Amino acid sequence: MILIVLGPPGSGKGTQAKRLTAEKGWPQLSTGDMLRSAIAQGTKLGLEAKTFMDRGELVPDSVVIGLIQDRIRQPDCGSGFILDGFPRTVPQAKALDLALEASGKKLDKVVLFEIKDEELVRRLSGRRTCDVCGQMFHVEFGPIPKPQPCERYPVCNVVQRSDDKPEVITKRLQVYHQQTAPVAGYYKNTGKLKTINAAESPDKVQESLNKALA
Ligand code: AP5
Repeated sequence: MILIVLGPPGSGKGTQAKRLTAEKGWPQLSTGDMLRSAIAQGTKLGLEAKTFMDRGELVPDSVVIGLIQDRIRQPDCGSGFILDGFPRTVPQAKALDLALEASGKKLDKVVLFEIKDEELVRRLSGRRTCDVCGQMFHVEFGPIPKPQPCERYPVCNVVQRSDDKPEVITKRLQVYHQQTAPVAGYYKNTGKLKTINAAESPDKVQESLNKALA
């Protein structure tokens, strides 16, 4: 299964992609995580990406397309993968088509997570993440972050993402509506696009996602 989870920041793409990976074994290819890892390692790519991410803007297409082209050639992507946060522009969607064609693969499904902006602001401003093991928390919806270190690893460090500040969240939502929402239109007539209600509980959203994939 080659699946794209598409939707605004905070709609739960990462949460559901992790659940699918645990259930089905398909790796989660998150361009956001790849870029944050490059930033943490202090690479040239990471330094370039940081300036865009801190402002809530998209990193240039050429950078993220290159990341995905390399990643989908890795052996663990042989029996499918979940694209989380890519494509985010129509040129990225076109580049993905070419990359899949070049490697003899085919996109199976695109699932669009639908949810109102007000709810997204609430989710993003309350999100906390362990920057060591990646476990996600939410100050309101849970699980609630415990005093550090977290319960999973003694070295965990629970932090707020730098782009989850109110002014950056507003910008990310604007960027989504202007540049990423048209990606759904790109897939509209392919017969692969399904829309789910992402405003429900994580278990209900998982149920809808599984139905969309059946
Ligand atoms: P990225 O890391 O991809 O962030 P995003 O798309 O903005 O998505 P988020 O990770 O913020 O949200 P999510 O939908 O995964 O929700 P989550 O499951 O975490 O990108 C960051 C930046 O990198 C971009 O702004 C850009 O600069 C750059 N970038 C990345 N990819 C790029 C690309 N392709 N091109 C150019 N630039 C790129 O959930 C959010 C919170 O809600 C959590 O606390 C969670 O616990 C909670 N939650 C989840 N589901 C539910 C639910 N059903 N009910 C209640 N709470 C829930």
